[in-house]
Amino acid sequence: MQAAAQAQPNIALVKYWGKQDIKRNVPATPSLSITLDALWARTTVRFSEENERDSLSINGITDPSQLQRVTAALDRLRRLSGETNYADVSSTTNFPVSAGLASSAAGFAALVTAGCSALGADLSAQDRSRLARASSASAARSVFGGFVELQTEQPDPAAQPLLAETEWPLNVAVIVTSTRAKQTSSTAGMNQSARASVFYDAWVDSAPRDFADARRAVLHQDFQMLADISEANCLKMHAVMLSTQPALMYWNGATVEVILRVRDLRARGIPAFFTIDAGPQVKIVSLPGHRAAIEQAVRDTPGVVDIIHSSLGAGARLLGG
Ligand code: PMV
Repeated sequence: MQAAAQAQPNIALVKYWGKQDIKRNVPATPSLSITLDALWARTTVRFSEENERDSLSINGITDPSQLQRVTAALDRLRRLSGETNYADVSSTTNFPVSAGLASSAAGFAALVTAGCSALGADLSAQDRSRLARASSASAARSVFGGFVELQTEQPDPAAQPLLAETEWPLNVAVIVTSTRAKQTSSTAGMNQSARASVFYDAWVDSAPRDFADARRAVLHQDFQMLADISEANCLKMHAVMLSTQPALMYWNGATVEVILRVRDLRARGIPAFFTIDAGPQVKIVSLPGHRAAIEQAVRDTPGVVDIIHSSLGAGARLLGG
């Protein structure tokens, strides 16, 4: 009754911020993402009658703060399979968790994939995506590789693959500007924005247009168009965060400086654009062949602590053994 799986974080280019159905965890806005290759979460799930409760360790440390969400995910798996035993969940990552690097996306995609296998539940990728979404909506997207969409018309939506990573091999440089865990989780932050940002309704109303345009840009492999939409959509989400009362400020000084340097790169004709999630890290998406120029532009920025280069990667999968 044990299985292990790996999943990678995904970075949204058209973002989800706000829920239309809090109970079922259905986003208010459609989103479009790219799954990374270089970062991973590897998760082992073991159901056993010897366990007296569910337990969770992340990178070797017992983590009670996330246990409630993990137990809720395990309960969904237990309900669908008839399993009654508790589970040990242990996860390792090769990047800092809870710092705006989509650790929950990779973690829950890996948890659901491993958990289904441990219970002998042969679910389609779409059904695993639906289950992952119930824990963390962005996790629905990490079930798939390459370019992935998560539409929101259905009451219980799953993500869908849009374009394989091999079809349009973009690069991503993750500019780490802090490894501290963020103060406000995405879920808490987006629910505050829905209640207390005067821009929230405009954000939700304008999202389908951004999504449709980005989808077209991906299908036509139009980098310029994808760059324009992604940067505008990212800044719009951060405007909603900043206008929430009390304000949600996920950036630090280095975040702003890196944004300015990417704008300079673009002005010099380098095909690169920035995007930022609920944290201070900046992800620079580029066409292949510009790694040195990007590295040179940002590496001496005060506050930059690491640069991780990645290509686009595959979806969640079982690990053998
Ligand atoms: O799925 P969550 O609860 O981790 O929220 C993700 C929110 C953003 O990363 C800011 C945007 C997105 O679409 O991934």
